[in-house]
Amino acid sequence: MSKLFTPFRLKNLELKNRIAMSPMCMYSAGDDGQITDWHQIHYATRAIGGIGLILQEATAVEKRGRITANDLGIWDDTFVADMKKFVKLIHSLNCKIAIQLAHAGRKCEVKNEKIIAPSAIKWNENYPIPTEMNKKDIRDVIISFTQAATRAVLAGYDAIEIHAAHGYLIHEFLSPLSNHRNDEYGGNTINRTRLLQEILTEIKKIIPTDMPIFIRVSATDYVKGGLNIDETMTIIDIIKDLVDIVDCSTGGLLSPRIDLYPGYQIKFAEKIKNSLNIPTAAIGLITRPEMAEEIVGNERADLVLLGRVLLRQPYWPMYAAHILKADFIYPTQYIRGKY
Ligand code: FNR
Repeated sequence: MSKLFTPFRLKNLELKNRIAMSPMCMYSAGDDGQITDWHQIHYATRAIGGIGLILQEATAVEKRGRITANDLGIWDDTFVADMKKFVKLIHSLNCKIAIQLAHAGRKCEVKNEKIIAPSAIKWNENYPIPTEMNKKDIRDVIISFTQAATRAVLAGYDAIEIHAAHGYLIHEFLSPLSNHRNDEYGGNTINRTRLLQEILTEIKKIIPTDMPIFIRVSATDYVKGGLNIDETMTIIDIIKDLVDIVDCSTGGLLSPRIDLYPGYQIKFAEKIKNSLNIPTAAIGLITRPEMAEEIVGNERADLVLLGRVLLRQPYWPMYAAHILKADFIYPTQYIRGKY
């Protein structure tokens, strides 16, 4: 029997299988950050394809928290009505949906925005020097994340993922390479984790108690002096009571050359799951059904996230069920296309 096609439960979130779509920016929102026809078609197609959960792409909690001018946004109440319709569409296709709340920090490329970061260190030569955040900026960001979570609840999302990876604002606080602060938000691991911890604490106060929180981390910066798996585990230990599952990615703070091979990040999901006794999601060059089955079957992670493979094969779960000889409920309209 295939474990990949067994249900998975996190608090009130019941998934029909263990296949989730990894968050992937489409850079297709209007200049106002709103959901467009592209998002409706793109996500609905993957829902029809049979995944259990969509992790919606990075959605900016502040205008200056966008990566590009065409990122999705959730920085004011006007976003809620369209998101509500969108969530309803995905639910009607028998799929659950979480929203990834994000702030780009020093990686914001949007013109005429004040770029903020823990320290005035630019990402690379092509980016401006960001403004070092003062206490009010930090407070504002915490409020922005919390208000965004309130809107996500109103829109009907099933879960929230906090983007603490890939060199964006929260990761910039976590890593000693981008955080040179001398106050209580910089220095030792506890201090560098403080912003994340405060964001999670505030969000937990306002979301329903049975709504799960995902956190995406970069388990390693792949650079000497940066985050490594041991420090990432210390960070997760600090916030463990505030999150329900760890989505284990890597990199993005700087641009070192890294070796990419199938499942190159699974070892981090496995280590975090087994050492800290917390559910994890594995991501990164997972493309074959047998490989996905091996990950959950051997309890190396609880969920398998798929990124690029779903851009070319939106019906991947149908194919995987065929290969793994698992039961799969086709949408009625597609039954004649059954393998
Ligand atoms: C991404 N990725 C990504 N990650 C994230 O946390 N939030 C995001 O919005 C995005 N955006 C994004 C856009 C596109 C076009 C790609 C290809 C990737 C990273 C993604 O979620 C995933 O972690 C990586 O693509 C590795 O997984 P795969 O593609 O090897 O399965």
